[in-house]
Amino acid sequence: MAGDDLARRFPAVRFYNPALVEVQEDVAIGARTRVGTFTLIHAGARIGADCTIGSHCNIHRAVLGDRVVIQTGCHITRGVVIEDDAFVGPGVITLNDKLQGGALAFPRIGRGARVGGGSIILPGVVVGAGAVVGAGSVVTRDVPGGAVVLGSPARTRHRQPTPQE
Ligand SMILES: CC(C)(COP(=O)(O)OP(=O)(O)OC[C@H]1O[C@@H](n2cnc3c(N)ncnc32)[C@H](O)[C@@H]1OP(=O)(O)O)[C@@H](O)C(=O)NCCC(=O)NCCS
Repeated sequence: MAGDDLARRFPAVRFYNPALVEVQEDVAIGARTRVGTFTLIHAGARIGADCTIGSHCNIHRAVLGDRVVIQTGCHITRGVVIEDDAFVGPGVITLNDKLQGGALAFPRIGRGARVGGGSIILPGVVVGAGAVVGAGSVVTRDVPGGAVVLGSPARTRHRQPTPQE
């Protein structure tokens, strides 16, 4: 049975419903990582320890660090790198083929960055360490570390000074 096979291949990983998950060949998943239901992890993916991978996710040949959270319904394309402690909200899409048939360029989500639900990260975009991407953003340019960006196309949010400032 598929579930028994996953338990044998990944004894330190918790699959919520192993019979309803597909993990292809040549995949590494670190200890204590949890994987939701109806998720597909493609050949060559590298996933660190203590991660949470939600349900209905499609993880291609990407590299995820430790303690990464990928919430429900994410599409993580081939070549994406997601560094330690990054948080990717529900329904996030990463893309790697700008011209849809051209050269590939792979997004990178830096250490501790947080990407809001429903956002789209375009090919080759780097979201810097500790940056925040607002929900529903379309991120077309690199995001500096620690910045907060919002909208479509995503732009840095500049706080308005209060009258006392
Ligand atoms: C980006 C975010 C962190 C900003 O939070 P905040 O600092 O409390 O900002 P506020 O709610 O005070 O909003 C400030 C302004 O930004 C706007 N804004 C907030 N989030 C926005 C977003 N995602 N896209 C566009 N505009 C946004 C607000 O409308 C407001 O504009 P206004 O001043 O013209 O009214 C938050 O809105 C967000 O998107 N969080 C992501 C949530 C998420 O996806 N979680 C995933 C796990 S469930």
